[in-house]
Amino acid sequence: MKLCHISDFHFSSNFLVKYGEKVLYYLDKIRPDFVVITGDLTDNGYYEEFLDAKKYIDKISCENVLTVMGNHDARNGGYEIFEEIFKTRYPVVESRNLIILGIDSSEPDIDEGHIGRANYSYIEEKLKKEKNCKIIALHHHLIPIPKTGRERHIPVDSGDFLKLIDDLQIDIVLSGHKHNQWIWRLNNTIFVTCGTSTSKKLKGKGYQSFNLIEVEKDFISIDEINLTNDEKRSISYNRKNKVDYLYIKYKAC
Ligand SMILES: [Fe+2]
Ligand SMILES: [Fe+2]
Repeated sequence: MKLCHISDFHFSSNFLVKYGEKVLYYLDKIRPDFVVITGDLTDNGYYEEFLDAKKYIDKISCENVLTVMGNHDARNGGYEIFEEIFKTRYPVVESRNLIILGIDSSEPDIDEGHIGRANYSYIEEKLKKEKNCKIIALHHHLIPIPKTGRERHIPVDSGDFLKLIDDLQIDIVLSGHKHNQWIWRLNNTIFVTCGTSTSKKLKGKGYQSFNLIEVEKDFISIDEINLTNDEKRSISYNRKNKVDYLYIKYKAC
């Protein structure tokens, strides 16, 4: 199973067309089974920005594209437009062996994340089933990551939600938001934060990127592709042995 994880387009004058086109080039080449977009499609939640984002997403030639809302999308009443265009704030893609559940962690006009205890029973209901691979996608990161200064945006109920993730034996959690690529592994779950794929809003000398995730029976491999120089960093996790991993860096094409 191949999944491409892209994030933080920030459609506005902050969107960089050359990286938008490069993402589409890679998606055409990789032909993933799933594409997950972890929010901040727009910079301000404006209607025109959403229309541009939707036009762009419609160019992705993959049948299973799952999109969640970011804090920037929820600004200026954008949360209503997001629901109008994407139909749901909790998208689900499910097959016999796999489930991906999208979660809205945003709050209108507030940058902090919030999952909300009222949503836990729905999340539990969806994800308690036995699957070879269970994935959650949400905009906000649940564990602090480097280069983001003083931590202010972690969802206010992260502790309870991390416990739920552990109880449900979630394999992968995908997020965006901080525009700095990072991976943590906590217990049996891999937490993948995508950088911004297409915007100029970088941390220091950061770079635009996306992730290619491949799930096999025994391994999960994650390639982070740097869109500025096509370099790829790969990590492969043995699903049975928590400490065994492989790290390599080479040119993507
Ligand atoms: Fe963002
Ligand atoms: Fe964000």
